[in-house]
Amino acid sequence: MSESQQQPISQTAVDEAVATALAAVAAAPDVATFRTVRAEHLGETSVLATLNGALKSLPNDQKAAAGKLVGQAKARVSQAFVAREAELAVAEETQRLAAEAVDVTAVATRWTPGARHPLSLLMEHVSEIFVGMGWEVAEGPELENEWFNFDALNFDEDHPARALQDTFFVEPADSHLVLRTHTSPVQIRSLLERELPVYVIAPGKVYRTDELDPTHTPVFHQVEGIAVDKGLTMAHLRGTLEHFARLMFGEEAKIRLRPNYFPFTEPSAEMDVWQPNAKGGARWVEWGGCGMVNANVLRAAGINPEVYQGFAFGVGVERTLQFRNDLNDMRDMVEGDLRFSRQFGMVL
Ligand code: PHE
Repeated sequence: MSESQQQPISQTAVDEAVATALAAVAAAPDVATFRTVRAEHLGETSVLATLNGALKSLPNDQKAAAGKLVGQAKARVSQAFVAREAELAVAEETQRLAAEAVDVTAVATRWTPGARHPLSLLMEHVSEIFVGMGWEVAEGPELENEWFNFDALNFDEDHPARALQDTFFVEPADSHLVLRTHTSPVQIRSLLERELPVYVIAPGKVYRTDELDPTHTPVFHQVEGIAVDKGLTMAHLRGTLEHFARLMFGEEAKIRLRPNYFPFTEPSAEMDVWQPNAKGGARWVEWGGCGMVNANVLRAAGINPEVYQGFAFGVGVERTLQFRNDLNDMRDMVEGDLRFSRQFGMVL
């Protein structure tokens, strides 16, 4: 005898099955539990399914009434499950939305955007000025061969600038490497790499064994300019520098050249700039070095100085920034304090 045949299809048995199922359905706390409960009370092994299965073994005259009883019971229970499932789905959705809710009135965490350093911006600005005149921007290595930094630039073996107090030499000594002391080695590199004529502007870092103080830093920046073409004279140098000065310091700016000595230029000059808008009143300030490219330098780059002439200049970028913005202490430029950079705008 099977189990189903033992189960009497009585009103009580059916009501009991319905009541248990309805209680279970009401108690299911979430959709996952609900599914197990439904299988238990409506599935193949549920009491109602068993009662339903028992119908076929009933005498024919009882089948209709018992069938109706079980059928209605199953319908009630299924409806209850459908309703509860919808209820649970809504509850879970509400909970999910609440969990994902964003409080638009909450105080935001502020992320300060980074900023380009004022020195980088200034070097870019200078490059753009020269690119506007048709020049090209070049770069050279900061770890430089002594030959490019000194020899090719016509420095004597015993030139004082080679001495230990100025130059960072890199070990081992026979590597002949130095941290470049100026951007002038880019003059030689540009002349060796490029076809003539050459018009190149080279911004970059340079190193000298100076202590950090208000007017010195052991790492600083220069912008080098070199032009080599047929027929260039000191007048071209002067005109170029004056144009550059006006774009840096205002329409009223002008330059003054004072005789000086650099091994790689002849004649050489110290360049002062007349700064019309300086805070304490207009003044002359020493801005950089310049001159006509020394014939020996042209020869070192394989250029015939009878045919080509050149001029070159180098200015300190920190000094330029100091003059343009009336800054007193160079240390502000290297310390990386955001309050310093912010005064120049947070340009990214
Ligand atoms: N290189 C020189 C310096 O660092 C500046 C300079 C550049 C002078 C080009 C003449 C020509 O002082």
